[in-house]
Amino acid sequence: MRIFSGIQPTGEKHLGNYIGAIRQYVDSQEESDPVICIVDLHSITVAYDPEDLRESTLSLAALLVASGLDPDRCTLFVQSHNTNHAQAAWMLSVVTSFGELRRMTQFKDKADQQEFVSVGLFTYPVLQAADILLYQTDAVPVGEDQRQHVELTRDIAERFNSRFGKTFVVPAVVTPKLGAKITDLQEPAKKMSTTGGTALGTVQMLDEPDTIRKKIKSAVTDSGREVRRGEGKEGIENLISIMSVSTDQEPEAIEARYDGAGYGDFKSDVAEAVVELFAPIQERYRELRQDPAELQRLLAVGAEKARALSGPTLANMYERMGFAKP
Ligand code: AMP
Ligand code: TRP
Repeated sequence: MRIFSGIQPTGEKHLGNYIGAIRQYVDSQEESDPVICIVDLHSITVAYDPEDLRESTLSLAALLVASGLDPDRCTLFVQSHNTNHAQAAWMLSVVTSFGELRRMTQFKDKADQQEFVSVGLFTYPVLQAADILLYQTDAVPVGEDQRQHVELTRDIAERFNSRFGKTFVVPAVVTPKLGAKITDLQEPAKKMSTTGGTALGTVQMLDEPDTIRKKIKSAVTDSGREVRRGEGKEGIENLISIMSVSTDQEPEAIEARYDGAGYGDFKSDVAEAVVELFAPIQERYRELRQDPAELQRLLAVGAEKARALSGPTLANMYERMGFAKP
């Protein structure tokens, strides 16, 4: 069972990233050796600062290890350290149609936020397909917002297989049962996001405990008093999901426990649960950041493993597509 996922090294990682994605990567180490890629080539498709990119790549590596990714039980690497991704993306771009890419909702959302809309932003899902398909991936753990990209990857794989012969496994998308879409604490209709959300409504994984408390206590809820999920209660439902994941309890148990308690007490408890969830991660992150050479070493080992895993598939692609041998 091959598990693969990617995460961008831009922006700070938030509670939605942790619940929707990072937690799933960590858990998947129990069953298989997941391949987790820091997708720096994806991050350059929108306006960015080169110095920040270098720094955030190392910072994200530290955060992932601090969250529980163990370099001995997974393959953690930086996308640009394995040049096979860029090569495979070019080849897959000829079995992807302009119309398919034009329908991608993430492209439309991101393009609206950019002054300069690059071709790279448009073909971004093709590079994502290359990431996934190079590793003969069975399952891709992601948040709900990535479902459309993984479905496109499946179509690309099937098209390539039928035109050039069976080359790729067709991957499945895996979203968590709870928390696949954590919403902005200030605007419960929007997903929590560093670029599209509000600052007060986005809990960063590296926020100070008091900042976390302030953000959660200011969460927008409804005018009722019932700690329950349901129509018109999106804000409370989001907090119940966060509480459920942070304390490992079923949402029903949380509803029963806060029956008649009111929102104030509930929000304070959610805040404490998130502070406790992130405290050990933050501490470990700070330690890891003290030793950039060790992080570089871990990433070099990861890149070596990634090249070895993806090499045979890339060679197959060249062969099947009819390229003359060098
Ligand atoms: P990104 O930081 O955009 O590379 O996203 C990394 C992962 O986090 C992807 O699998 C996303 O689907 C997931 N993700 C991002 N925002 C959220 C959110 N608000 N709720 C749940 N998952 C999310
Ligand atoms: N597009 C994903 C995001 O914005 C990141 C990503 C790149 C990815 N390549 C991937 C996710 C491969 C899963 C598999 O979150």
